[in-house]
Amino acid sequence: MTTRRLVLSRSAALVGAASTGLLLPEIVRAQSAKVRVGLMLPYTGTFAQLGVAIENGFRMALEESGGKLGGREVEFFKVDDESNPAKGVENASTLVQRDKVDVLVGTVHSGVQMGIQKVARDSGVLSLIPNAGAHAATRGLCAPNVFRTSFTNAQPTLALGKAMVDKGHKKAVWITWKYAAGDEAFEGFRDSYTKAGGTIVKELSLPFPNVEFQALLTEIAAIKPDAVACFFAGGGAAKFIRDYAAAGLKDKIPLYGSGFLTEGVLDAAGPAADGIVTTMHYSDSLDTPRNKAFRLAYAKAYKSQPDVYAVQGYDTGLLLIQGANAVKGDLSNKKALYAAMEGAVIDSPRGKWTMSPQHNPVQDIYLRVVKDKENKVLGVAAKALADPGTGCKMAT
Ligand code: BEZ
Repeated sequence: MTTRRLVLSRSAALVGAASTGLLLPEIVRAQSAKVRVGLMLPYTGTFAQLGVAIENGFRMALEESGGKLGGREVEFFKVDDESNPAKGVENASTLVQRDKVDVLVGTVHSGVQMGIQKVARDSGVLSLIPNAGAHAATRGLCAPNVFRTSFTNAQPTLALGKAMVDKGHKKAVWITWKYAAGDEAFEGFRDSYTKAGGTIVKELSLPFPNVEFQALLTEIAAIKPDAVACFFAGGGAAKFIRDYAAAGLKDKIPLYGSGFLTEGVLDAAGPAADGIVTTMHYSDSLDTPRNKAFRLAYAKAYKSQPDVYAVQGYDTGLLLIQGANAVKGDLSNKKALYAAMEGAVIDSPRGKWTMSPQHNPVQDIYLRVVKDKENKVLGVAAKALADPGTGCKMAT
């Protein structure tokens, strides 16, 4: 009893230390029979559906691999991070310290990811990012134990600007949520749009996850730009698309976006989404046997259509399986594990991709348009696009 209380109070103290910003000791753990996988994802709020799709995709990859990692059974531990950055460190510490996970899979929101990044760097626990595009995670704050299977926030929008100028849209308004993902998506858009000869006439924003768009839409109508480009995702994206059409802008000012705008929301957005052009590292309509098989299997398993989040969750599973198989389930063999993951070629529904030296996907970015509730591929907007990984010094 005493021992248990001591253990509990020690882990509580460590959680407290982490949340106050103190460094955690490197955690060395014994190899338990089951691989302990922590899922830290949003299951409530505007990104709830994204969290579910990531978990579905991740589980599907594991199921296809016999439900095992390097021959070991898997046990799951889950935390709803609510897309709340204020609880990021505490939630990640709970999985690492209390649940003693071997690998932490999370999350969606860039601000919350910064909490995970701190805990991952302090504890050394293997951290797989299945969505959040926060630049720092694979730039200035990169780490040997942190791997991203999704994108950096600027990656999709770096392919957007030229596509808009090619269509003759020389003056654009940018609109987004004011937080890291929106700011960094803007960086990619600004660089590509101005390089192609476009001018950004106004930047508009509102706090995350606010969805009161009306005043900003009225401002756009008054400015009358050639086009609007944006970053929104999840439930907020569906509402933005509907509000944009309801404000009478849909047929007057073409709407473009980082592809998250039209991911997982096409049923909720309805006809208001038709014709929206976006750039993204996935497209529903990719005409490859790999994508078709994935979509069929996902729809059968989860009675819903997969989106980019499901693909990223799936690829997170594929990456972990490759790593775990290479070390025959001994995840404590970090050198060999990380080497296998760094050298992995992921045969993804999005197309094959590899890992950059800073642990971010090198991948094709597609130009897509929404038609009949599908993101239809128009072409490849950027081939094998890598994030520059600026400032990353990979300590070994
Ligand atoms: C982010 O916060 O990094 C993010 C959230 C949803 C979609 C894409 C990026």
